Amino acid sequence: MFDPSIPSRRSLILPATDETICQAAARLADGELVGLPTETVYGLAANAWDPSAVRKIFAAKSRPPSNPLIVHLASIERLGDAIAWPPPTVIRRQIDALADLWPGPLTIVCPRSERIPAEVTAGKTSVAIRIPAHRIAQRLLHVCPFPLAAPSANRSGYISPTLAAHVCDASGLGDWVSLVIDGGACVYGVESTILQLGDHPRLLRPGSITVAQLAARLGICPADLQPLGGDQAESPEEPIAPGMLREHYAPSTPLILLPLSSLRHGGGNAGEPSAQQAASGPSGRIAFRPLPVAERANYRIVETLSERGDLTEVARHLFAALRRLDGAGLAVIHCDTCESEGLGQAIMDRLRRAAARTQSLQKDSASKPEGR
Ligand code: TXA
Ligand code: MG
Repeated sequence: MFDPSIPSRRSLILPATDETICQAAARLADGELVGLPTETVYGLAANAWDPSAVRKIFAAKSRPPSNPLIVHLASIERLGDAIAWPPPTVIRRQIDALADLWPGPLTIVCPRSERIPAEVTAGKTSVAIRIPAHRIAQRLLHVCPFPLAAPSANRSGYISPTLAAHVCDASGLGDWVSLVIDGGACVYGVESTILQLGDHPRLLRPGSITVAQLAARLGICPADLQPLGGDQAESPEEPIAPGMLREHYAPSTPLILLPLSSLRHGGGNAGEPSAQQAASGPSGRIAFRPLPVAERANYRIVETLSERGDLTEVARHLFAALRRLDGAGLAVIHCDTCESEGLGQAIMDRLRRAAARTQSLQKDSASKPEGR
């Protein structure tokens, strides 16, 4: 029997060939975990119909059992493998209206099929479904006779992986995955958009598919889809999206977000470390576009995410840059920000969560009385 306290063997990163895809499918059928590239981030996959395989995901990630997983399917024709079939008419219509977005970075939440074990949905009556577009994920899903439960392949709370190596590095899950299929760098770089379907459809997590795209297809006003505010999303007894915690995607190094106003109007000094920060050690900078030379000089390392400030490129490169800076022995990371709209909504959502711990520490120290 599987003992979650005993990690499995060392992982293997393998190129995607017919042979390795079949090998991955066989390991999954045996109840093992596989690292899987998708167009958003790498996933940690298990057979979604196998409760003991699904429990390994929670053990590997140290994920709270109250945080449900996304179930990945090969195609829209396979929806009945995971959701209650036929779905209520309102949901059927919404699925039809959204169908051109699949395969792609859109996850829907709707009533679950009894075939999906309670471990996957954390006991909820709903299930989250995604049909990934990545050709390797597609190949594997077509070979597997079961759907794949797959959260992002990172330890709970850490930054999502956008390269195969991230899945197994020091911060990763190398001791738990049986193999990782290498699909290169993920093209979107932020996790899928999550939309809860039903009478009052609602955005649970912003992603590369924007609120405007969803609202246009559902024939509703974008404002009606907007997520609940942070506190509402976190504090109810049964949170709607249990994984959307205020502190998430967080590097170990303190992360400070530079206000948009200072980036626009501050010129060369916009991201300059304060005297106090400079004294505490070397700092790094995540810049959405190239910095002026004088400003670069303030930092030991600068990660430039896009030559043109293009948000698609910013999203694609953000997590890998955060991970590199987090491993560089810096005292602090400063990061650019953008308007929270369109793809910028997903970028700012991840950055706010990544910086939340630093912010609460700063608040705590500011509220402490001066003295010894
Ligand atoms: O892009 C993605 O979605 C990636 C790739 C691997 O597919 N997966 C991913 O999974 O981001 P994960 O586990 O890191 O995030 C899933 C989110 C969590 O916030 C979880 O709480 C939410 O989906 N979720 C899952 N099932 C849900 C449900 N039934 N109701 C509400 N939220 C749900
Ligand atoms: Mg995740």
